[in-house]
Parts: sequence; structure tokens; C-alpha cells
Amino acid sequence: MNILIPKLKILKITCSCVLFLSLLMAGVANAQHSLNNGNQEEKIRSLISQMTLQEKVSLLHANSKFYVSGIKRLGIPEWALSDGPHGVRAEINRDDWAYSGWTTDSATCFPPGTALAATWNPELAFKQGLVLGEEARSRKKDVLLGPGINIIRSPLCGRNFEYLSEDPLLISRMAVAYIKALQSKDVAVSVKHWLANNQETHRDSINVYMSERALREIYLPGFKAAVTEGGAYTVMAAYNKFRGDWCSENEYLDRQILRKEFGFKGVLMTDWAAAHTTVKAALSGLDLEMGTDKKDYNEWYFADPLIKAVEEGKVPLSVVDEKVANVLRVMFKTKMFDEGSREKGKMNTPEHRKAAYNSAVEAAVLLQNKGNLLPIDFSKIKSVAVIGDNATRKHCSGGLSSEIKALYEITPLQAIEQKFGTQVKINFAQGYEKQSTFKEGSNGGQANSDHVDWKLIQEAVKVARESEVVIIFGGLNHDFDTESFDRQNMDLPYGQEVLIQEVAKANPNTVVVMVAGSPVKLAGIVNRVPAILWSWYGGMEAGNAVADVLSGKVNPSGKLPFTIPVTLDQSPAHALGNYPGKDLKVNYEEDVLVGYRWFDTKKIQPQFPFGYGLSYTGFTLDSFSTDKKSYGQGDTIHAKFVIKNTGGRYGAEVVQLYASDPGSSVLRPEKELKAFQKVFLQPGETKIVEMQVKVRDLAFYDETKKSWKVEAGEFVMQLGNSSRNISKTVKISVR
Ligand code: BGC
Repeated sequence: MNILIPKLKILKITCSCVLFLSLLMAGVANAQHSLNNGNQEEKIRSLISQMTLQEKVSLLHANSKFYVSGIKRLGIPEWALSDGPHGVRAEINRDDWAYSGWTTDSATCFPPGTALAATWNPELAFKQGLVLGEEARSRKKDVLLGPGINIIRSPLCGRNFEYLSEDPLLISRMAVAYIKALQSKDVAVSVKHWLANNQETHRDSINVYMSERALREIYLPGFKAAVTEGGAYTVMAAYNKFRGDWCSENEYLDRQILRKEFGFKGVLMTDWAAAHTTVKAALSGLDLEMGTDKKDYNEWYFADPLIKAVEEGKVPLSVVDEKVANVLRVMFKTKMFDEGSREKGKMNTPEHRKAAYNSAVEAAVLLQNKGNLLPIDFSKIKSVAVIGDNATRKHCSGGLSSEIKALYEITPLQAIEQKFGTQVKINFAQGYEKQSTFKEGSNGGQANSDHVDWKLIQEAVKVARESEVVIIFGGLNHDFDTESFDRQNMDLPYGQEVLIQEVAKANPNTVVVMVAGSPVKLAGIVNRVPAILWSWYGGMEAGNAVADVLSGKVNPSGKLPFTIPVTLDQSPAHALGNYPGKDLKVNYEEDVLVGYRWFDTKKIQPQFPFGYGLSYTGFTLDSFSTDKKSYGQGDTIHAKFVIKNTGGRYGAEVVQLYASDPGSSVLRPEKELKAFQKVFLQPGETKIVEMQVKVRDLAFYDETKKSWKVEAGEFVMQLGNSSRNISKTVKISVR
């Protein structure tokens, strides 16, 4: 049924930013074709025809930590790569891992992956891509190693903070926007980690098994969108094995899926030190070897041993030529042969910092707000207690390969002091101490991290009693949210649970702000404090962003990009005992039931569901309808609804459209996200919003037929503002 409300604005699912829109649309059809163009291919062939075998091979392995040598006599420049997903990493020495100590490499630091995803706003991912591209060019980098888009499978994965979500659609929309923007600045992305690097425990030896259906429905879509829609120029092969073969030499993943099915024409590189062989890797589609732990670069798998393999006829020369062509193609696309017209880049401009702030402020998720304790009107209070290590801790420089030398980083305490210090007495107490120390090669610094420090708690209780309102900044830090290690449990470390309980007893007006990049156990605090705000690692503007949300200058509009379980064993991989695997093998037995798909299907009540987040204003969703009742397989469903801001503040709601297939012949998740839109509304404002879902996106992967299938019958389209708060449903049928 169509609804007609002529006076209202109609908002299409696409957004207003013209550049964002045009760049997103450009190449949606098949982005990889644009990597290929006739004239350029001729130039590539001509260059290759002039190279010796040694020269060709020199382009296929690094000659230092982050550089690949060029070929001067042919005008082929050196290739410069850099981490990482949320900022350009400081310069590292060519031949060791020490920082070079430059004074010109302080970067803009964005909130990491889960925070970006929590904005549910692809425009912000796009903006981040533009900034990263400009800063990468300003540092003369050609490839930026991101985005990291692995599925968040376990709450414990140390790299969850760098990744985006447990949902493939949310990952895809954010990744495509990021990639298109970044590459528009003549810098290649490297989408990582291909594939199934969903845990850090044994990441360099674990052998991952999953069904073909889980692969197709959950683990591949983000990468597929990155390559076919985003047009990613490079992809990074993960450390782990997939179905028995290393990802860097996995014929099925690298040739069959990436090259043949996705049509990938760019460079497949290894993760750092993820190469294992010469011949097998060469034949299965790997192009570039990075980070191998051998001092003499000539000894790397894709150096002298590759020359030898060609000479002995084990690797055809045409295979080497194909790899060189892939490298040159990316160089052409990023204008490396045309420095005059190439993006010059800029560093740390006010717009860059504003973009980092915007992401941080839109990421904040309001989890609980009993009695409307938030926002805090600082003009009406005389004192506030600020408690907790995360009130003063800086996080940009942690997490290993994604660490950033930020130009500056504003902590929450600094921001609160700057914004309200003249009018309100701020009583700070440490509350808990960071007991861990991160050491690479240890267990990530997580040992001895649950000590309750009663002296610090008593001091905190004292300042809480002396203050009108209390804000506790707790959560994790990069001893926990880090590459290389998973967490050992989901608990809040350093005795924080006891601290929060004691402080809340002393002063019931207690707000807890969680600074963390992956789920933590909140069961011990949700009933003890009225308000919880999840502010993530907020990048260089973290403090300003969280202070503005706490004070109500900005209305929170973030939504959880993952489920927060009550306890770890609710979570699918842990409930089934298949994390981190046995004998270096892990079988993803939960299959397609990852994240909310598991919780909803198994009817398990999580602590906070996927897609959840409150606002300081209220929204209603009404008049949900679809353009037709019955659809053919090639059709698009046009769904429409009316959203109203019923409160007194400007704000944004993330409206989520899920679908379910109750009559399916195979087990399907209770619901799957099919579209979403962040809608900004003035107080009292109403908008009509349209969302589109292709009927073919309702399909499941049919393992017997090895193809996607939409079974004829009834589907239920469900509209809500979280995976567990569906306010309207419409039944449709597919013929
Ligand atoms: C990480 C990659 C990173 C690379 C280079 C590896 O340890 O897994 O994500 O890009 O190092 O620093």
C-alpha cells in the first residue's frame, strides 16, 4: 500500500552529500572493470616486455618493512605501504620495527573500527576515507593497510576494536564508503584479513573450517562488497589456514573466489610474515610477499626462490607476468606514473580533526538512562566527580599495527575541565589502576588484572559523596583490545565492577562511561547504576566527543554494531565450545548463526542487543508499507515508513530493516539485517523514508545446488530501531 503525505519531505536511502553519492555510485556496477582499461593494459604489457626476470620478481616482495623497490631504468617508482585502518601510522625504520622518530608524522587519529561501525553512518566512513587518503599522500604513501573487516565472531577477539561488526551488511556499507573515498585520493586500500582471521589466539597456525553456507552468507559478503562495489585495489591474505591451506596460498579463496568470482584485478599481498611457500603460493594467486622474517630480502619466498622456480619450470613465466601486471595496474590506478596530477595530500587540517570528532560523537551509544540522569546540565550543578583510569588515559598509541602517533589526544578529564571547569568543581579520583603491562610475546599483559584496590575505591567513594553527579570512565585499554592476543574472559578488569558498585552506593547519580572496543560483561553493573554510555576508543577527539554527549550538546545516536552477551557462554562460539579450537583446528559449528542471528534464533536474551542504542529524544515509526505485496525474483522491494521525532531535541535514529523467512526449507536466522538508514530530525519533525531491498538479497546459499536461492513463499519485513525492538512488520510474498 502506498501512503501519501504530500507536505512531508521524502528521504531516500541515499544521503545528501553529493561527492559521497557520486563516488559511491561510480563503479557500483563492477568496480574491478575500472581497474582494467585498454590503454593502460597496453602500457603494462609494454613495461613487462622490457623487464628481466630479476626485475619482475623484485616487484613481488618487499625490500624493507613497508617498501617494495621500484625499477629506476623503467621509471617504475618504489612502492610505499603503511598501516593502518584509523590513521596513518608513524614512520618505521626500513630494516627494523623501531619508529624513525620523524617530527612530521603525527597523524589524525580516528575512532577505530567498532566505533566507526557504531555510527551506522556510511557518510562518516566516507569522510574518514578522504582524510586518510589525504594524510597518506602527504606522507607519500601509496597503499594504506585497511580497512580491517573480519566478522566479530567472539567477544574475546583482540582485534574486534579494529574490525567493524558481527553483521555482514553493516560491514559492507561502511567498508565500501571508506574504500571509495580513500582510493579517490590516489592511495590503494588493502582490505584485510582475507579470510576468517576471527581470533588472535594461534592466528598464525589455526586452521579454520566452516560450512560453505557460513562462508557465503557471513564471512565473504564484506570482502565481496569491498572488491566488487568498493573496487579495492589490494587485499591482504590472513595469517591463518582455511580448510587446510594457508590463506596466502589457498587456491579456492585466492583463485576461485577472489579472482574468478569477484573478478579481482588488483594485488593480493600477504600479511606480514604470512608467506609459507614459493611455488604453491605463486600458483594459487598471491602477488606480493610482505614482512617475512628473514634479513636477506633475496631469500624471501618471492625473491630468489621464485626466480629459481621459474627457471626450473615449476612456475610459468606467465604467472609471474600476471602478478607484475597486477602490481603495475594498482600503480597506474593510484597515478604513480603521473605524480603531477596526483593528490598532494595534507595533514591534520581543521577539517580532518572535525571528521575525527564527528565520528567519535556519532559513535557514542547510550545503553541505559534511568530517570533521565543524562544529559548532565553542567550549568545547574556545582560539583562532579570524575573517576577512573580511562578518564585520563590516551589510547591512540595502542593496539599494535593500528597504533597512531596522534597529533594530540584529548582525554575525557581534559575535555570536562576545559568545557566546565570554571563553573563546576571537578573532583577527580583514580578509582582503579591499570595493573597490566603490554609486552609482545607475553599473554598481552592481561595477567594479574583483577586485583581490587580498596584504597583507590575508598578515595573514589569519598569524592563521589562530595559531588552532585559522578562519571566513572571504565572499560578496557589496549592491553586487552589488541592485535596478537585475545582476551581471557569478558570481565571488566582491575576490580572495576566492585569500584562501580561501591561508588553507586555512595552516590546514586552515577553515570558509567565504557571505553572499550569489544563486548564486556555488564551484568554486575546494569542494575547498580542508572546510566551507561558506551563511548569506545574515541580517537584524538575522544574527550571532546564524550563530554559533548554527556552534557547534551550532542544527542547520542550510535547503535551497537555487535551483541553484548550477559555472559560469555551465551555467545555462539563459546556456547558450542568451538573457540579457540582444538589441536590448532577450529570448526565454526554455529554456522550462519553468528551474533544476533544466534541470540534471536535460540531465543537467548542478551545484555544489550545488536543495533541497540537510546537517544535523549524519542522517535516513532509508523505507516510501514511496501510498494507491492507479491514480488518476482528479479524485483526490488521499496519499503516506506514515517518517522517522527517526538521529543524536544534534535537527534538521529538508525532505522533498521530486517527480513525473516519463516517457511524456509533450511534453518535460517530468526532475522537478518537487509537495510538501514540513519535519519536526522528536528524536534517534532516528520519524514517519510524509503528503503530498498532486492528480492535476491533475501536468498540463502543452497549448498546442494552451490547457488543462492530465494524460495517462493512468505517473508516478513521487520522495521525497528534495534534487532530486538521491532515496531512494525509487513508480510510479502515472493513468487
Ligand atoms: C597485521 C596487519 C598489519 C601488518 C603490518 C600484521 O601483524 O596483522 O594487519 O597491517 O602487521 O603492520
